[in-house]
Amino acid sequence: MLTVDAGDLLGWRSDVRRYETLMTAVSRLSYDAVGIGDNDFVDGAQFLGGEIRKHVLPVTSANVRPALPEGDLTVPPFIIVPKGALRIGVIGLATPQSFRFISPRRRSEINIADQARALQQVLAGVRKQSDLIVLLHHADMDASIEIARKFSDIDLIIGSHDQTVHKAPVREGQTLIVHTGRNGAYVGHLTLTLNKGHIDQFENRLIPLTDEIADEPIVKGVIEAYYAALRQPVEQTGLLTLDGPFQGADTCIPCHEKATSQWRETPHARAFQSLIDDNKQDHPECLGCHTTGYGQPGGYRNVQATDHLTSVQCEVCHRVAVTHLQKPQNTAGTVKKVSEGLCVTCHTPVQSPDFHYEEAIERVRH
Ligand code: HEC
Ligand code: HEC
Ligand code: HEC
Ligand code: HEC
Repeated sequence: MLTVDAGDLLGWRSDVRRYETLMTAVSRLSYDAVGIGDNDFVDGAQFLGGEIRKHVLPVTSANVRPALPEGDLTVPPFIIVPKGALRIGVIGLATPQSFRFISPRRRSEINIADQARALQQVLAGVRKQSDLIVLLHHADMDASIEIARKFSDIDLIIGSHDQTVHKAPVREGQTLIVHTGRNGAYVGHLTLTLNKGHIDQFENRLIPLTDEIADEPIVKGVIEAYYAALRQPVEQTGLLTLDGPFQGADTCIPCHEKATSQWRETPHARAFQSLIDDNKQDHPECLGCHTTGYGQPGGYRNVQATDHLTSVQCEVCHRVAVTHLQKPQNTAGTVKKVSEGLCVTCHTPVQSPDFHYEEAIERVRH
């Protein structure tokens, strides 16, 4: 069995602690080859490079390299994996388009070469050393099909990045293409029968990762330790600065009773309860939108340390400088006009597909 990932092990939201845990878990899974995707740079090239080195991950890419201050991280353009009598050549590749949503700062830390040229340079060498050529392609399905048309040498393309779940493989000439969709919801299991070094028959299954699938004990241990660490109380600095720490709605009540009582009737005031109902109150990927100031200095950390900052409270929309609390007439640093731009940082098309600002704002104003 060949075990691979085609890129985007990390997520779209910066969270170094979480990804360190994830990479530790991944390193226990003994992948044969791992490609690089746009999300892998969410916490920068330096972080990614450090994790690849620390865990000695078998990362391959023919056209993407993390650019580090001390010089680019050299990633092999391909890996030859021996499996029984078979030598499998695995090449990593990504379309530059798949990096288009990345921030300019992160983008500047990535060197991406032209796909076709990079592939052209390595293919002959890979063919010489292997019986089967597998491309880990970080791209949309259409882009994978295009590569298969241009490079008929490739036997199998395993893709990621496409947000659509392609249940059936696509056949393009001699090349078979599989993509497994998004958010790690499925594991793709492909069984191949070879004839004269080419794929003759195949059977592809997308296995949904539901609770019915037993946890791998070591990985489970790594993840449980991480959640336990998150639950530890953290020391609060207690120092008030212009940027926080966040105070919580209770501070505002004495002077803003009307606004507070209206806010209490909105779903924002119950946003943390929704996480508790789902038993996801410890999950960092949910906290950014269901708490106040998560990830910011003085913001929500965990229930023990900051239980006054659960749910979407006043300061999410109004900031509030400490000088306002000391001297109420001083409203400098306190935002009065709340913009639509702020709402859609949480009300994204994914989380809130029916969000209409004009209607929604009427339910928020106090
Ligand atoms: C000690 C009383 C007091 C406290 C505590 C207080 N405020 Fe105020 N706040 C005021 C007063 C008084 C005004 C009106 C200032 C003015 O317009 O002259 C005001 C104005 C505001 C405004 C409008 C700003 C503007 O530019 O007109 C916002 C928003 C606001 N407060 C939010 C908050 C929030 C959120 C909290 C809690 C973190 C809070 N305040 C705590 C007394 C207070
Ligand atoms: C920090 C993230 C965040 C921001 C910023 C935010 N919201 Fe929300 N909003 C939420 C969450 C989370 C919920 C769901 C609460 C729940 O029920 O658990 C929600 C729910 C709502 C709902 C109720 C939706 C429904 O159908 O029941 C409305 C209306 C709403 N928000 C309007 C707004 C508006 C308008 C803004 C901007 C002024 C805004 N929100 C800013 C996170 C946010
Ligand atoms: C990008 C911001 C964001 C993230 C991340 C997020 N949510 Fe939400 N969530 C929202 C918003 C906004 C709503 C309100 C949706 C609406 O009705 O328009 C919401 C609504 C909900 C609701 C529905 C409340 C109800 O009963 O109507 C639940 C439950 C929920 N979220 C749980 C979660 C969980 C669990 C996670 C983590 C896996 C999560 N959310 C991550 C923004 C977010
Ligand atoms: C989801 C965003 C959101 C949250 C959360 C929120 N507000 Fe507001 N607040 C608004 C909006 C929108 C307005 C109207 C501003 C405008 O008209 O542009 C407003 C206006 C205000 C004003 C000024 C009212 C006036 O007439 O001058 C005060 C004071 C205020 N909010 C206090 C609070 C307090 C206190 C809380 C928490 C208990 C809170 N807000 C929570 C969005 C929010």
